[in-house]
Amino acid sequence: MRDEIAKACGILEAGGLVAFPTETVYGLGADAENIEAVASIFRVKGRPTNHPVIVHLSPEADLEYWAHSIPSEARALIKAFWPGPLTLILPRASHIPAAVSGGQDTLGLRCPSHPVAVELLRAFKGGQGGIAAPSANKFGHVSPTTAAHVRQEFASELGHGLGLVLDGGPSAVGIESTILDMSRMDTRGPVLLRPGFITPREIEAVIGIMPGAADSGAPRASGTLSSHYAPATPVLLGQPELLRARVGLLREKNLPFAQLLHSMPDEPGAVATIRLSPESEGYARGLYAALRSLDSSGAFAILVESPPADPEWDGVRDRLRRAAYGSESALDGL
Ligand code: TXA
Ligand code: MG
Repeated sequence: MRDEIAKACGILEAGGLVAFPTETVYGLGADAENIEAVASIFRVKGRPTNHPVIVHLSPEADLEYWAHSIPSEARALIKAFWPGPLTLILPRASHIPAAVSGGQDTLGLRCPSHPVAVELLRAFKGGQGGIAAPSANKFGHVSPTTAAHVRQEFASELGHGLGLVLDGGPSAVGIESTILDMSRMDTRGPVLLRPGFITPREIEAVIGIMPGAADSGAPRASGTLSSHYAPATPVLLGQPELLRARVGLLREKNLPFAQLLHSMPDEPGAVATIRLSPESEGYARGLYAALRSLDSSGAFAILVESPPADPEWDGVRDRLRRAAYGSESALDGL
């Protein structure tokens, strides 16, 4: 891996793109301070350029270099959760290019815990650089949790647009980081922009304030679009009774279906069935690989059993809702 890391640093320093593993999902990385390199992330990913990208830092990075007016609560959260799956939105230091934050005066910062990511960040620019990286998938698609997923997403860019894919095995968390806006602490307090593995309750336990829900003044985040993280196949989310009714309809029309379950019994006749853990952590870890696999099963629709209502399922429920957004219309006219 040492040689691969050196090669990755060379590519990044020359303005190229490198995909790398993190504990949440794989990232598509570029030098955060190189405007052209950041522009090529947007191009390769097919993402609108006014969408901000998270900047990844090494555990030893100098936070003041990247952000200003850092509230004490942010420092407490960093102490508690970095390296780890928590992204903080902070006021952007003026010399950091606005291109990385989609023109906004804030910056998303995160220190990942995956050992390969940490090694890469420590090697890049002597540990003081920042790697801008969205998830390594085409805009709106399902995020990758293995190096093979990244190679599938960017098959036609490998070797030119995308210089290298570092393989760090399957991501342990499986869904993207929790995003907490701390750029408006004095007026709004901390605001949760995207739920993830680190929950509002864990954040409250550290800073004594429960994060608020995103409001119209919140910074833009593409992970907060209604439709995102979506397979090409319609995803129908529902409780067992509703799913059984839909299976009935699809069977009647001779349409193949796939199913993603965690507690209800299998519906017979599916072209593909994946059963994930009934625990939220195990479920999150397997979710994106399962959606990718069911998406290629030839099914007309993927039926997904609704996750439990408990708060620890918030991250998973959020991703499933976005994956399912707009899919109901696939049943129109059947
Ligand atoms: O777990 C993760 O966060 C992964 C890994 C690779 O670190 N990254 C990830 O990046 O999910 P991406 O770009 O797919 O989603 C990052 C989200 C986007 O919705 C983006 O808009 C938001 O973070 N974001 C980044 N900087 C921001 C800022 N300054 N203000 C508001 N939102 C921001
Ligand atoms: Mg993404």
